Amino acid sequence: MRKPINGFSKLSKLDKIEWITETFFQDADAAKQAIKQYWNTDQKLQQLHDEFIENTITNYYLPFGVAPNFLINGKLYTIPMAIEESSVVAAASNAAKFWLTRGGFKTEVISTTKIGQVHFMYSGSFDKLQNFFAFVKPKLIEDTQHITKSMKKRGGGILDIQLKDRTNELKDYYQLHATFETLDAMGANFINSCLEQFAKTFRTEALYFESFSEPENHIQVVMSILSNYVPDCLVRVEVSCPVEDLNHKSLASSEEFAHKFIQAIKIAEIEPYRAVTHNKGIMNGIDAVVLATGNDFRAVEAGVHAYAARNGKYSSLSHAEIEAGVFKFWMEIPLALGTVGGLTNLHPLVKIALEMLGQPDAKELMQIVAAAGLAQNFAALRSLTTTGIQEGHMKMHLMNMLNQLNATHKEKEKIVAYFKKNIVTHSAVEKALNNLRLLGNE
Ligand code: MEV
Repeated sequence: MRKPINGFSKLSKLDKIEWITETFFQDADAAKQAIKQYWNTDQKLQQLHDEFIENTITNYYLPFGVAPNFLINGKLYTIPMAIEESSVVAAASNAAKFWLTRGGFKTEVISTTKIGQVHFMYSGSFDKLQNFFAFVKPKLIEDTQHITKSMKKRGGGILDIQLKDRTNELKDYYQLHATFETLDAMGANFINSCLEQFAKTFRTEALYFESFSEPENHIQVVMSILSNYVPDCLVRVEVSCPVEDLNHKSLASSEEFAHKFIQAIKIAEIEPYRAVTHNKGIMNGIDAVVLATGNDFRAVEAGVHAYAARNGKYSSLSHAEIEAGVFKFWMEIPLALGTVGGLTNLHPLVKIALEMLGQPDAKELMQIVAAAGLAQNFAALRSLTTTGIQEGHMKMHLMNMLNQLNATHKEKEKIVAYFKKNIVTHSAVEKALNNLRLLGNE
């Protein structure tokens, strides 16, 4: 068995690579070369990336693409997307173009508040705890003033703190449940700093609270942390058009398409196995924009899936109906995003993404991201209920296969032209390339 390594983080980047390649690779030189070839030649830029995290040894590229022609509330956007899945940007672009001539996306921010909690244990009388909370609440707010000052000036800050008794579910367990408005910042650092200060004040003041008896003085704070469940940081996005306007070359008839599409959504509403994949398709669009704009896609993912299960059963995020001959397709989705702070001021490509979007504030970004998610869902359901997903997916995947088979630029052009009218499968691509090579690429 290998021995653990001590002091790895203190090694230089080169020494880290040396240790990794010598320890884990058969061909250490080839591994070193593969790692180093992703280093940026601009040393300052490379250092910036190195310092985002600990133990950086290289960069991991993702394609940064764009989906143009997104009409959202009457404004045209070209949406930046960072994603590796072949068909996502193409699908978003197609859906954007489809809705461009049908009124575009209508969006609305419903709410923008976020939650953070101090989780603590207390084994005394609840009445006394309530009295203590009433006494200490103004002090909790006061003691965070050094953190909240500038946020307050801009109209945000701490909105409320509540005491919650959760002892029915866990012995001695209570919470300080706080609500925050963090404006254009995602707000994680702001919220966590406030919570840690609440915890400190709460614990210290309890030591001297007169009506507490000796054990009651000693409140045990277990942890203080924001919640990524943000059902009150919600955005709504909708597209709609008369059913007859749904005509499109890939669709049988508008009515048939609309009905099948709605059936597909109803299935995702009642069947969790389908709902997870359905929502994954939505997240294809959401995550790509979240990542391109320097936001935390893990936080968004966690919050969105929890929201999809808010009624006790995992279900579709999107919904559709026909009302008086009008097809309506919409979703409400929780998105805690920031356009200031974090990576937004640091990562050069994030700055490019935000400028491309016209420097949106957090609310506008919520609406753009939601539109990208609904577009993605529309594109997926349109394929699934008409041609099937593989036709478009495999066409987009064709380039990956050709790269795997080391096709030249000229070969790629010919094979792509050939598969415009033929079904793409791995063996068909291999065969076509072999035939082409046998014919000498004429
Ligand atoms: C693939 O990444 C996403 C889809 O599976 C979504 C869906 O099934 O709705 C196509």
